[in-house]
Amino acid sequence: MTKKTIVSMAVVRRLPRYHRYLEELLKNDIKRISSKELSEKMGVTASQIRQDLNNYGGFGQQGYGYNVEELYNTLTRILGLDKSYSTIIIGAGNLGQAIANYTNFERTGFNLKGIFDINPKLFGLKIRDIEIMDVDNLESFLSNNRIDIAILCIPKDNSQIMANRLVKAGVRAIWNFSPIDLDVPNDVILENVHLSDSLLTLSYRLNEDELLKKNNEEK
Ligand code: NAI
Repeated sequence: MTKKTIVSMAVVRRLPRYHRYLEELLKNDIKRISSKELSEKMGVTASQIRQDLNNYGGFGQQGYGYNVEELYNTLTRILGLDKSYSTIIIGAGNLGQAIANYTNFERTGFNLKGIFDINPKLFGLKIRDIEIMDVDNLESFLSNNRIDIAILCIPKDNSQIMANRLVKAGVRAIWNFSPIDLDVPNDVILENVHLSDSLLTLSYRLNEDELLKKNNEEK
């Protein structure tokens, strides 16, 4: 079991998308937008947007719509993007290195402080000035550095043991890329990312017509 949110997760999962759209609008110097326009752009109903935002107090005015900057700033705060976070990556293979090289996370306040691996051949190598360290030094690093988020990019067989180590050392949020359901205490926030879920959804949709046709023929 992981930590529960006060607002439903379905709503929470839509917020980054609202934030992204509003950022685009701001970049294009659009100062206000009607709920109808916003809903058409996002493919979500206007009432859905209203209901989602009502969880955080009322936004938008009848006849005026939304003030883009105000809503963007509020969502920035709600998403915790007005703060910064220290992160570490565990596993400096293909995925870990790709994430370490992606500088955009830093732009949004997620600062990479350390990279750890088990493979001695990688120790001492640097990714964007951050040295890959021996994972044996993880606990001593964590006792000297306050880390908010651990990004887990190791083979699944080692992931639960690693999650236990991280939790024991005081890490309270894990961004897990390993294809495994981790067991963590209630007060630890766990977010799983599985690119393959998205890819399989794509392949399902690619084959949907065929599946439907087959089902109709069988009826
Ligand atoms: P990789 O084999 O290139 O890298 C794994 C790295 O983890 C290696 O450098 C290895 O030495 C290190 N490692 C192994 N055990 C460790 C431990 N206990 N502590 C520290 N480091 C350790 O593999 P790749 O392609 O980078 O994938 C990593 C993980 O991410 C795998 O579990 C893979 O299934 C998963 N993955 C998940 C994706 C997703 O969408 N969630 C997408 C791609 C990979």
